[in-house]
Amino acid sequence: MCAESKDAEYTCISRGAGDTFDLGLRLGRRAAAGEVYALYGDLGAGKTAFAQGFAKGLGIDEAVTSPTFVICCAYEGGRLPLYHFDAYRIADASEMEEIGYEEFFYGDGVSLVEWADLVEELLPRDCIRVWIERVSNDDFDVRRIRISGVRAECLQ
Ligand SMILES: Nc1ncnc2c1ncn2[C@@H]1O[C@H](COP(=O)(O)OP(=O)(O)O)[C@@H](O)[C@H]1O
Ligand SMILES: [Mg+2]
Repeated sequence: MCAESKDAEYTCISRGAGDTFDLGLRLGRRAAAGEVYALYGDLGAGKTAFAQGFAKGLGIDEAVTSPTFVICCAYEGGRLPLYHFDAYRIADASEMEEIGYEEFFYGDGVSLVEWADLVEELLPRDCIRVWIERVSNDDFDVRRIRISGVRAECLQ
């Protein structure tokens, strides 16, 4: 599903929500403490589908949904704590500061940030970036997913 392109950026084609979930699952299985995954993509691109697979890969059984009314949801039941952020509704970065995002980003768990472009300046320079894009208007279920900052074995 994934092929390496330039600068250790990987491009994957997802043909349905299950593929995006599986990609998240594989990365979640190998995720390490202190990693921040920045997720980019429009509404309905599949960021939460990826997050759900990622949580499963960490061994979290709890249902993961978009943290619509809060900026961050913590899930403790897996191999590592998962901090699932959704920046969609934040007005500016100070709201992230109010919830003490640094303790999560630089803590002992793994952070996933939906709508990462809205908090770009707060992301660690070495964060793992995942861009999810619709490929065409005809193929409703196809997505191009690009990943940077991840080791190749994490995609297996
Ligand atoms: N290839 C795909 N990857 C992810 N989701 C897909 C795909 N094809 C269709 N979908 C559908 O698109 C929607 C993605 O929703 P969601 O993951 O909540 O998006 P986001 O969090 O980016 O707003 C779901 O209804 C899912 O079933
Ligand atoms: Mg979402």
